[in-house]
Amino acid sequence: MADKSITSSATDSTNQETRNTSNVLDTRSFQELNHSYDLPVDSAEHSRLDLQHELVRLMLGGKLYKQPELVQATLSAAENHKRQILDVGAGSGKWAIEIAETFPDAEILGIDLSLPSVLQDPSHPVPSNCAFKIADANCDMDKLDNIFDIVHQRCVESGINDSDLFFYDAARILRPNGLLLLVAVNPQLVDEKGRMLPIQRPGNEGYSHYQHMLGCMLEVHMKKGPFRLGHALWKSMLENNPNYTDVRVEEVLVPIGPWPVNMGETERRLAELMQEDILLVSPAFKAIFLRDGDLSEEFVGKLIDGVMKEIRELPPQVHGYVKWVFATAVRNEKPWTSRKEPWQEPPGFDVYDYVVRPLPKE
Ligand SMILES: C[S@@+](CC[C@H](N)C(=O)[O-])C[C@H]1O[C@@H](n2cnc3c(N)ncnc32)[C@H](O)[C@@H]1O
Repeated sequence: MADKSITSSATDSTNQETRNTSNVLDTRSFQELNHSYDLPVDSAEHSRLDLQHELVRLMLGGKLYKQPELVQATLSAAENHKRQILDVGAGSGKWAIEIAETFPDAEILGIDLSLPSVLQDPSHPVPSNCAFKIADANCDMDKLDNIFDIVHQRCVESGINDSDLFFYDAARILRPNGLLLLVAVNPQLVDEKGRMLPIQRPGNEGYSHYQHMLGCMLEVHMKKGPFRLGHALWKSMLENNPNYTDVRVEEVLVPIGPWPVNMGETERRLAELMQEDILLVSPAFKAIFLRDGDLSEEFVGKLIDGVMKEIRELPPQVHGYVKWVFATAVRNEKPWTSRKEPWQEPPGFDVYDYVVRPLPKE
């Protein structure tokens, strides 16, 4: 297939005003393309994503990806073709823009349910080898007719209805030996070994407003369809997918706030950024609960206030970490194989190893 330019064919970035439709609730804006993704898509959220981007870069030692040797090899392959990179769920566009600056000879396409706010800011011009387009990865992947060297998806899994299907879709548009790069964060409170901290009732020892908020969020999430925290199953999905080889998955735990003693400089900064990230995202849950939850405004207000106080507190009452998951898989050289049957959870899989069990009703 000829290398079709992605920056010239993606025109949405020039008319974002008309395409960036969203509804507004409690001063926050939400996308309306699908009912799967819950978080806001406004400039406040994009600022948070910029901060989260710094956090992930720090975890990656300043890089934009894991397995730098694989990325370098993929992008400097001997074949004489234009390198093309797809960023799925590009958010604020920061990763796409920085990868475009890092590899000026490559072309980058960022797709998302809404466009990055940076496109409306003339003081931050987007590199000419980077374009953005509105697309839903749940139903628009088959409209992409380029062949990519890298498909990147970071922190998008809560908006992906079927991760297994997404991996098949990504394999179809990846070049042989192309790379799938995945990052997820599971916001649940875990201990220093990555085990879920059990949820407690309000008033009991170990009660956490933050965990309570995540429990309420899970109930909202489950009302809209099946559990979508796919990273728990990434390894198994990718290893069972005939289109991939060399699957690598790595987990990194980051404390929420600089509470552990004897932290190194980088670990402290990571913990501070993680704390800041949660403080920035939590107020958005208010709008989501008021829109989709069966919760009173008074309850929601108190819960979010409690979260903000608890996360700021040092040392915190609950010593928790958040788990980040990094995965890579290499597209093998075999012809693309489509999915034959829907993914089945492996025997013994328990979703409550990955998310809080909702509190029993009083
Ligand atoms: C938490 S943000 C992460 C943004 C960016 N990847 C990053 O790491 O900074 C998730 C983004 O994925 C987008 N998203 C969620 N579900 C999506 C879907 N089905 N298709 C395309 N984009 C999606 C959201 O609109 C949002 O911008």
